Amino acid sequence: MKNIAVLTSGGDSPGMNAAIRAVVRTSIYNGLNVYGIKRGYNGLIHGDVMEMNLSSVADIIHRGGTILRTARCEEFQTEDGLQKAINIIDIFDFDGIVVIGGDGTFKGARELCKRGVRCIGVPGTIDNDLAYTDYTIGFDTAVNTVLDAINKIRDTTTSHERISIIEVMGRNSGDIALYAGLAGGAESIIVPEVDYTCDDVCKKLLQGKNRGKLHSIILLAEGVGKATELAEEIHSKIGMEVRVTILGYLQRGGSPTAFDRILASRLGSKAVEALLDGESGRVVGIRDNKIIDEDIDKALEMKKNFNMDMYKLAKILSI
Ligand code: F6P
Repeated sequence: MKNIAVLTSGGDSPGMNAAIRAVVRTSIYNGLNVYGIKRGYNGLIHGDVMEMNLSSVADIIHRGGTILRTARCEEFQTEDGLQKAINIIDIFDFDGIVVIGGDGTFKGARELCKRGVRCIGVPGTIDNDLAYTDYTIGFDTAVNTVLDAINKIRDTTTSHERISIIEVMGRNSGDIALYAGLAGGAESIIVPEVDYTCDDVCKKLLQGKNRGKLHSIILLAEGVGKATELAEEIHSKIGMEVRVTILGYLQRGGSPTAFDRILASRLGSKAVEALLDGESGRVVGIRDNKIIDEDIDKALEMKKNFNMDMYKLAKILSI
């Protein structure tokens, strides 16, 4: 093992830089040459590669985004694109690649592994939607960003005695809504994993109003549907004033929390160790605060368990 490469792919997440730093420094510590591939699989196809050293990753642990840039690459999903990527891997003589990203990134790595390239995946996505790991890098920061927004939106929602629907990211996962909703004391949390009816939401709003509540915050995961449509439905049913805030890309930026920096450092380093141990086709993660690695096929097949205990708790505490 002489040459290792690292890339970030798919949607960025806070903490990706800390993971890159850990990969680069653990590689150098172990006497390896380490290369950064720009713009994910796109850069791999086009040979957009740079050698990295200790100072390439100085002053980045606290920065959001990814210094390697990222992209969603359709060409890589074709046989031709994959072959171009393998040509670049041969030209640069990479012995192993650490890919940082979500399930799309892991699927790309799985294809490379099938063609004999040694890859290790590091989970970087705000969605927390990978079943094999308790947490993905960036999730904690995104939850804290949403929490900060809830606190601010609550102020104005109370002043105006309104209802606020806050739409959050997560693709098909309700974890961001659940964690931020519980921490922020949201009155309702609506997620793709649990069925809901608008009538139930309205009933709760009316009960709150009748008890003298000045505001209500509804957290809506994007995987359920559009906040604007729910707002119209609520207004047409009970006539209360509803405002919508779609937090969008705010949730993908910002300085990573201590939790995400530590997670990223542990996982990035573990990925290099796995390559040094001769592993391939594995993804690293955290379970019960222990760093683990899992077979990439198995990890991609696993179905995530939504935390119903936390969901029920949020419901009890928001009666
Ligand atoms: O996977 C991260 C994520 O931010 C999702 O929460 C969201 O649905 C999606 O990416 C948005 O993707 P894009 O950056 O392509 O708009």
